[in-house]
Amino acid sequence: MQLDVFTLVPHAFAWLTEQRPVAAVLGDELDLRLFSYRDYTPLRAGQVDDEPYGGGAGMVLRVDVVAAALDAVYGGVPEHRVVALTPQGRQLTQEVVEELAADPALTLLSSRSEGFDERIVTHLASDAISIGPYVLSGGELPALVVLDAVARRLPGAIREESGAYESFSGELEGGLEYPQYTRPAEFRGWRVPEVLLSGDHARIAGWRAEQSRARSAR
Ligand SMILES: C[S@@+](CC[C@H](N)C(=O)[O-])C[C@H]1O[C@@H](n2cnc3c(N)ncnc32)[C@H](O)[C@@H]1O
Repeated sequence: MQLDVFTLVPHAFAWLTEQRPVAAVLGDELDLRLFSYRDYTPLRAGQVDDEPYGGGAGMVLRVDVVAAALDAVYGGVPEHRVVALTPQGRQLTQEVVEELAADPALTLLSSRSEGFDERIVTHLASDAISIGPYVLSGGELPALVVLDAVARRLPGAIREESGAYESFSGELEGGLEYPQYTRPAEFRGWRVPEVLLSGDHARIAGWRAEQSRARSAR
C-alpha cells in the first residue's frame, strides 16, 4: 500500500515508524510518505491557513494550499481514496479499517486549528473519517491511529493468528477478545483460570469462545 499523509507536523510520525507493526511492513507492504503543506503552499512565508469568513476564532486550512500540494504530488486530485480527517467524518471502526487496508493507495489529509475550508472536504477529499466523537487539536493523532490500524492488517505486519482472534474480528464474530493471562499462574492469590493450564486445547477454545461472547454481550 502507498500511504501518503499531508500534515503540518510531519515529524510527529517518526516514533510510530520505528515501532511494530508499522516498522515491520515499511518499505515492503507499506510505502509511507509524509508531506508538509508548507512545502507546497503558493502563499508567501509558508502561509497555509487564514481567518474564517464570517468571523470567529482560529484559522482555517486553505483550499488553494491543499490543492497545490495534491497537484505537486499527484498532478491533480488522485483517483485513489483521499480521506479528510475530521471529527465530522464517519466513525472509524474495524470494518472501516479493513476497507482502507484493502486499498492499494490511500491519502490522509490532516488539519489543525479550526479545521478545513469546507471545499477541501467537498472537492478534494473523497472520504471523511473521525476517530471518535471528541475534538482533538490536530489531525496528526487521528492519522497515526489510522496508520497503525491499517498497517497491522497488511501481510507480514503481525503473526496471522494474533490478527485473526482479535477484538472485532470475524473469528470472534465481531465481538471482544477473551481474557488473556501470562506467568505467574498465581499472584497475590489471583489464580489464572484452571482451564488455561489444563493443556486441553478443545476446552480452552470453548472457554475462550464463551468468554468472548459474554464480554461482547455486556
Ligand atoms: C480542533 S479540530 C477542528 C474541529 C472543527 N472546528 C469542528 O468543530 O468540527 C482541528 C483538526 O483536528 C483533526 N481532528 C480533531 N478531532 C478529530 C477526530 N475526532 N477525528 C479526526 N480528526 C480530528 C481534524 O483534522 C481537524 O480539522
